[in-house]
Amino acid sequence: MADDPSPTLDTLLQEGRSFPPPPDFAARANCRDPEVYARAEADPEAWWASWAEKLQWDRPWDTICKWTPPRARWFLGGRLNASVQCLDRHVEAGHGTRTAFLWEGEPGDTRRLSYEEMLRETCRIANALKELGIGRGDRVTLYMPMVPELAMTVLACARIGAIFSVVFAGFSAASLRDRIQDQEARLLVTADGCWRRGRVLDLKAVADEAVAECPSVEKVLVLRRGQGVETASAGSARDVAWEEIVPRQAPECPPESMEAEDPLFILYTSGTTGKPKGIWHCTGGYMTGVYATSQLVFDLKPEEDVFWCTADIGWITGHSYIVFGPMANGVTQVMYEGAPNHPGPDRFWEIVEKYGVTVFYTAPTAIRAFMKWGDEHPAGHDLSSLRLLGTVGEPINPEAWIWYHQHIGGGRCPIVDTWWQTETGGIMITPLPGLTETVPGSATLPFPGVGAAVVDEAGKEVETGGGYLVLTRPWPHMLRGIWGDPERYEATYWKRFPGRYFPGDGARRDERGRFWILGRVDDVMNVSGHRLSTMEIESALVDHPAVAEAAVIGVHHELKGQAPVGFVILRQGFEPGEELAQELIQHVGRLIGGLARPERILFTPELPKTRSGKIMRRLLRDIAEGRVLGDVTTLADPGVLDQLARMARERESEEA
Ligand code: WT7
Repeated sequence: MADDPSPTLDTLLQEGRSFPPPPDFAARANCRDPEVYARAEADPEAWWASWAEKLQWDRPWDTICKWTPPRARWFLGGRLNASVQCLDRHVEAGHGTRTAFLWEGEPGDTRRLSYEEMLRETCRIANALKELGIGRGDRVTLYMPMVPELAMTVLACARIGAIFSVVFAGFSAASLRDRIQDQEARLLVTADGCWRRGRVLDLKAVADEAVAECPSVEKVLVLRRGQGVETASAGSARDVAWEEIVPRQAPECPPESMEAEDPLFILYTSGTTGKPKGIWHCTGGYMTGVYATSQLVFDLKPEEDVFWCTADIGWITGHSYIVFGPMANGVTQVMYEGAPNHPGPDRFWEIVEKYGVTVFYTAPTAIRAFMKWGDEHPAGHDLSSLRLLGTVGEPINPEAWIWYHQHIGGGRCPIVDTWWQTETGGIMITPLPGLTETVPGSATLPFPGVGAAVVDEAGKEVETGGGYLVLTRPWPHMLRGIWGDPERYEATYWKRFPGRYFPGDGARRDERGRFWILGRVDDVMNVSGHRLSTMEIESALVDHPAVAEAAVIGVHHELKGQAPVGFVILRQGFEPGEELAQELIQHVGRLIGGLARPERILFTPELPKTRSGKIMRRLLRDIAEGRVLGDVTTLADPGVLDQLARMARERESEEA
């Protein structure tokens, strides 16, 4: 893992190019004062409280932070409503007519929604939810396309104190079912269809399949987005049509006054076991963190900016940097429903030009795809409105960073490489665009008030060099737990280095104290910026009748960063072959979702295991990536290794 020097990193350090904030950007930046770090460091609680004070509270807090490791509670005694921060506050301040969303549907339909309209629609939905019997503390699952109603429904749940959980629309029926069951949701909100690359996917059919095994679900609220395209499923008694219940509601709905520590949402993410974890976030601390980071990292100026975060609201990035952070700041945003290359590879740049996007936030995997599609696509559009660029989701390779800087940023826009995760709720390690000198590949420094360090195996801090990334003190927007499994919270994040939070990433610090995130050091892979568990995919493979045993690893992939590869031992009576390999790949897609589909399947008579019976995943990775093999003396049967290596070589020569 991080102990051995990463070749990519060495190249980076040798390159030594650095990019100070452009003077004209720095002169106008929201954060221009280098003292901000020292001030936050001297009293992190006071620093975070200074941000919380900028929100609208129904009742002030009594205690800023109560830290009983590993549990932190923030702003105790305080009461507020998250939707008020995003909507009412701006309307009351006279900014109701400001555009909240410039929405672009995949087939080219557009909508523009002001903050006032967002508030009214959110209230209507909130009232509809109430009519459906939903109230404070109830769980509501959302399985929807990227339409404004998704953001509104999220806010409507927050308004009435219901705990929402968004499931990315690319997940399978089984994944949706598991999540609904885990949180015992009473309501599912979905749509009749979802546009993807010119086709309408039947979201409702997937939802129906999931709900068939979810006795907790009393009603399914169905938005119309299929545009008249017939859905395979007929309505059932459980279904409620959006247009029959929402439009007739009153456009006002008094917000529930929530305790700062009340749960706001649950979002599932993959861990090292087969079962995804329901990460839950609270109201007060989460709102404080996403509000502060949006303002300082993205330098948002509500009067002038058009912010575009390309993530789906189904991921944490969309929760924190489409819905809650930017909306709490009252900024105008672009929301786009579809694929980046539909109908053509310049769709994103067309949108940037059309709406005058000023701040753009995307993932390295997308940047690598744009590079591959060709420089002419961004070059064909006027991107001069852009002033700041961001990336998130995985380490960015220097080539992609430089390309992004040149071809999208025109050489003038600072780039913020932001490290964080579902659990941290908001950005943790990042440049501040008006202050921090950036270097391609480094997320640079902890956000003011955030404590981060790199430690060795024994937990001793490494001043310069590689090791494990840890967070050394609580922060307001940290996860409050794993839904329904309090012990797992402690075991997952706080056991490895007692007293410190372990995110699962390796990192390195350079002589200037900058952090370089090296990627996961556990059995979690990062495919196109999405987190996948090797165990989860293994379980899906073993679920197939032909499979006796399976091992999954993430191998390097030019575009996706990593891609899953499955090593499979077949049951007796089944023959290896391309057809079966394809069937297994589809099987994983059906069970988890398209994004988990293995890149390829390698059939093997045996798997390399340690004497204690653990699958040697690292060895499999070396084989699949064609690297020279390291120390294999712990292999139970070295013969297996030869066979695997030979197979991998044959495979390669076939492809060459
Ligand atoms: C994992 C978290 C945060 C929203 C998207 C992913 C990796 C994230 C970076 C970055 C290097 C990064 C880490 C992290 N990651 N951002 N800027 N540089 N790695 O959220 O699904 O919870 O995944 O993504 O490995 O642990 P997530």
